[in-house]
Amino acid sequence: MEHRVTCKVCGHLSHNLKPHFVGGREECCTVTVEEYQHRYPDAPLTSPMFDRKLTELAQQQKTEATAEIDIHKMLTTEYSLKENFGIDMGMMDTITGFKECHPLVPEIDPEYQFPDEATKIILLGIRLNKPTMVHGPTGSGKTTLIEQIAARINYPVMRINHQSDMYSYDIVGQVQIREGETTFEYGPLPFSMERPLILIMDEWDAINPEIGMMYQPVLERRHDGRLGNIILTAAGGQKVVSNPMFRIVATSNTCGLGDDKGHYQGTQIQNLAFVSRFQLRVKLDYLKPEHEKAILHKKFPTLSGDEQGLLTETARKIREQYEAGRIDVPYSLRDLINWAELYVLLGDAKKAMTYSCTSILPFQDAKTISELIQRIWG
Ligand SMILES: Nc1ncnc2c1ncn2[C@@H]1O[C@H](COP(=O)(O)OP(=O)(O)OP(=O)(O)O)[C@@H](O)[C@H]1O
Ligand SMILES: [Mg+2]
Repeated sequence: MEHRVTCKVCGHLSHNLKPHFVGGREECCTVTVEEYQHRYPDAPLTSPMFDRKLTELAQQQKTEATAEIDIHKMLTTEYSLKENFGIDMGMMDTITGFKECHPLVPEIDPEYQFPDEATKIILLGIRLNKPTMVHGPTGSGKTTLIEQIAARINYPVMRINHQSDMYSYDIVGQVQIREGETTFEYGPLPFSMERPLILIMDEWDAINPEIGMMYQPVLERRHDGRLGNIILTAAGGQKVVSNPMFRIVATSNTCGLGDDKGHYQGTQIQNLAFVSRFQLRVKLDYLKPEHEKAILHKKFPTLSGDEQGLLTETARKIREQYEAGRIDVPYSLRDLINWAELYVLLGDAKKAMTYSCTSILPFQDAKTISELIQRIWG
């Protein structure tokens, strides 16, 4: 059962209190919505379930209304940073996005909490058209952050997941034979370059460094503010010109300079010339406990405040053990959400932790986490 919100004036319970105030459809309270908000600025007017349903409905309407949009004809508009991301960036108070929602725009996650610093740096990268690198431990929210920024400003997104066995044709495309004719079929890079969209170079540090260098000309911002062009030699020297609204944001667990802990198998030391072309870099670490608590509150409203506190406190302590070298694996936000979800269903923190995490860990790591839970949860 999802929790309803309670009116602080008369105790009325509802998922949406607005119609119940003076002037509303139901009008069974003694104050107007403005008076209520003035008196209780921190009291919510709607429940998390109501917010979620409202966003889902808006998203559905948007998708239905805009399925036919031509990406090349989309009109731009300015979005307030304060209203859409809850951040203040001094001189820069808006960001350019698009009026319409193209099908390549990611869906809004209403439970999403924007981390302050990384959000600012990515927005700066989009504004200045500087290739931006977001790096940090697994499950800290790197990919989701870029998608959620794009979702709030209707920016289409294309994502390339990099692997060590990728060849250049996986990225730029190759010659294909169709009905006896040979044609050059674009790969995801030239496809993205010609469109107003954000290319997420996901796990870019996994790519073979020689193949990675292929990105170099695209990562160079030109005198007219666009990103660079490429020449497709396999397509007879065809030139691909970057769209003025084409942007690049990369994510990685390392910074492209190696993995000193040996936890990110498959990542590779990249060519420095490639790394240096990401002109903005930001580390996205695990969120602060109060942010994680807010996420749990929105995702699992049946959890009490105490339970949310215990879950996030345990995650924090496990990370402390990891930092101190006493256990070998980090504990991500992804792990925490997974644990909380199982805990809600099983009602047993220890069991939920076993099934979601510790059963695959080395004995000593599992024991340390189990003792932590015993101490924190009693
Ligand atoms: N700020 C946030 N608010 C709410 N949920 C979040 C937030 N950040 C991440 N999540 C959730 O945490 C999980 C992990 O996020 P994500 O996959 O983006 O991490 P990542 O850093 O890209 O991980 P990896 O390095 O393994 O690719 C996802 O389920 C995502 O929805
Ligand atoms: Mg990711």
